[in-house]
Amino acid sequence: MKINAIITIQIFFVLWAIRSSAQQTIPEVESLLSKMTIDEKIGQLNLVTPGGGIATGSVVSTNVEAKIKAGQVGGLFGISGPEKIKMAQDYAVKHTRLGIPLFFGSDIIHGYKTTFPIPLGLSSSWDMELLRKTAEIAALEATADGVNWNFSPMVDIARDPRWGRIAEGAGEDPYLGSEIAKAMVNGYQGNDLAATRTMMACVKHFALYGASEAGRDYNTVDMSKIRMYNEYLPPFKAAIEAGVGSIMTSFNDVDGVPASGNRWLLTELLRQRWGFNGFVVSDYTSVNEMVAHGLGDLQAVSALALKAGLDMDMVGEGFLTTLRKSLEERKITEEDITAACRRILEAKHKLGLFQDPYRYIDTKRPQRDILTKEHRKIAREVAAQTFVLLKKHRNTLPLKKEGTIALIGDLANSKNNMLGTWAPTGDPQLSIPILEGIKNVAPNANILYAKGANITNDTVMAKNVNVFGPRVVMDARSPEEMRKEAVEVAKKADVVVAVVGEASEMSGESASKTDLDLPETQKKLIRALVLTNTPVVLVLMSGRPLTIEEEMELPVSILQVWFPGVEAGNAVADVLFGAYNPSGKLTATWPLNVGQIPIYHSIKNTGRPQPSSTFEKFKTNYLDAPNEPLLPFGYGLSYTHFEYFDVHINKDQVGPEETVSVSVTVKNTGDYSGHEVVQLYLRDVVRSITPPKRALKGFKKIFLKQGERKTVTFDLRPNDLKFHNAKLNFVSEPGDFEVYVGTDSNTELKTTFKLVE
Ligand code: NOJ
Repeated sequence: MKINAIITIQIFFVLWAIRSSAQQTIPEVESLLSKMTIDEKIGQLNLVTPGGGIATGSVVSTNVEAKIKAGQVGGLFGISGPEKIKMAQDYAVKHTRLGIPLFFGSDIIHGYKTTFPIPLGLSSSWDMELLRKTAEIAALEATADGVNWNFSPMVDIARDPRWGRIAEGAGEDPYLGSEIAKAMVNGYQGNDLAATRTMMACVKHFALYGASEAGRDYNTVDMSKIRMYNEYLPPFKAAIEAGVGSIMTSFNDVDGVPASGNRWLLTELLRQRWGFNGFVVSDYTSVNEMVAHGLGDLQAVSALALKAGLDMDMVGEGFLTTLRKSLEERKITEEDITAACRRILEAKHKLGLFQDPYRYIDTKRPQRDILTKEHRKIAREVAAQTFVLLKKHRNTLPLKKEGTIALIGDLANSKNNMLGTWAPTGDPQLSIPILEGIKNVAPNANILYAKGANITNDTVMAKNVNVFGPRVVMDARSPEEMRKEAVEVAKKADVVVAVVGEASEMSGESASKTDLDLPETQKKLIRALVLTNTPVVLVLMSGRPLTIEEEMELPVSILQVWFPGVEAGNAVADVLFGAYNPSGKLTATWPLNVGQIPIYHSIKNTGRPQPSSTFEKFKTNYLDAPNEPLLPFGYGLSYTHFEYFDVHINKDQVGPEETVSVSVTVKNTGDYSGHEVVQLYLRDVVRSITPPKRALKGFKKIFLKQGERKTVTFDLRPNDLKFHNAKLNFVSEPGDFEVYVGTDSNTELKTTFKLVE
């Protein structure tokens, strides 16, 4: 009886699933599918790149033209420009039997030709409208050049700054990361994917890539489901809820099976649980890489990937060369191939390519839409909002636009390092170096420039980071000679601005590091400059948190500017001279030293919490360093000062379906107007799985004139109190909650409420 009931329920679900998937089908796509041969379907699953851009693996596709004409290609990436794209589209439309158009992908990570700051920098603005706008401009420019599919946003949670790709994402926090994922998807895709100024987004890397062991790129990941659901997956889910059209797998294992062959991940979670109806593309040769992972030969891993729910194979051609054989050997079914092909064709349909394969090709658009004055203006404003004031010393900042300024550092006069990692569509030569920006903004100041030091004197490091062109340029002079020149210049000046940090390719893909200090030669330079007694401002560039304990203790001011993009110099000058008061806040914790890594704000208490910051035996701490980071998540200063008071909650008890409102008053008590990012953190005091000490659950960016005060109200909705429990259900549990509001994740301003049944 029982078994019969179970079988009936199962049959019901299968029929329901078939019916609901049938309901969603697109007649035009179904009709096309009915005409396609197996080989034509397999061809659609193949994504190629002719190289020329940045190839992120050792393989690039060969005989691309012939393959397109033979119907063996579904999409192309790494080419741009209406002429080239038209030519490739012609190969597909005019030379293949069914004339199925290609889509054209690209990595447009932080702007197309108008390069914005690196994503970690963008996230530091905590300004969702600003982020959405950068994506919208990227889409406008990219589509003007014929590109209609973007391998962005990268939403991997990253808590290990050794991992170079922390630069490409939104930092460590799932709540902020989810908000940013939505903003970026909305910016790229707009309301209408078929519009010629929007493109399909591709959220990546699914999943857990940011947790690569030891911060080493492409490395193993092993993680509990509880942690995945609560901390690493939310930004992907948010992107899917925002309607993202495609998703890219990651290189790492998820529970012992690489993401590209992981059926639990790509089918059970992504499609069945979350209802994702777009398509899944592999990362660069990640199907083939499952051979090295130890999962079998190319035929076996390709079949595994298809069966898992992967639709498109990037570059490796495992699908193209082995799926037919696997079908003949009954390792896969024709329906497996058709299902993947259907999803690719549906994406082309959403992009409007069946209506008009040439809709994104308009030779008048590049001139009109790309790198316009207006876009550059926005890039300048955006960049200024991403800078984080790490330290204020005396009243050195903002600078006066007069007197003598000693501008020191290789990075102060380097076009090649301004765009940051993953900006292959940008042109470094169009970027504004800091020297030029300072001259633009303070034309009456006397600027003296000296290089002072190489970015690094490590020739092996220099070679490794110069793969895409000269980022580290070694000076013929000795370090001592260069330093001496800088010190002479500093002595003559009223203020020193030293631009220090990483070269742009010291972070990004395949740029993991075990040492996060500033290179020794730059440290020596900074010490020497401080000894001149001329006030020193450090402008710090990096694609990751650095370990700068020594520099934080020196009598200097420090402004973190990431890699600010095409308008770098102007934006840095705007902030240095006070046209914009810095308001950025860190979105990844800055450790004291690499031994503290992985490090993030939403840690758990442990069973042996540390009662104070001094060492205590048998408590959770280190013998040789405190637990506290150098700079906490959410941290960032301003030229002015904000005071917080009157935290208020509208009820002491809330039911599970109720919203509770928390308000706080913020006053600008300093000497300048400015923005402040007001943050709210929640602590679920008792629950069935161990809670984090605090979790970010709200933020608002406000503007306060000098002397002005505002009351900021946050609504905590039922979902904000929920988490995934041991059964992975998303629930809230009755009990006490503590709410913290303030300027960063260390705030002690608190109120409480109780969740009742
Ligand atoms: C490898 C990277 O992991 C991915 O982010 C990128 O989109 C592809 N290469 C294509 O360039």
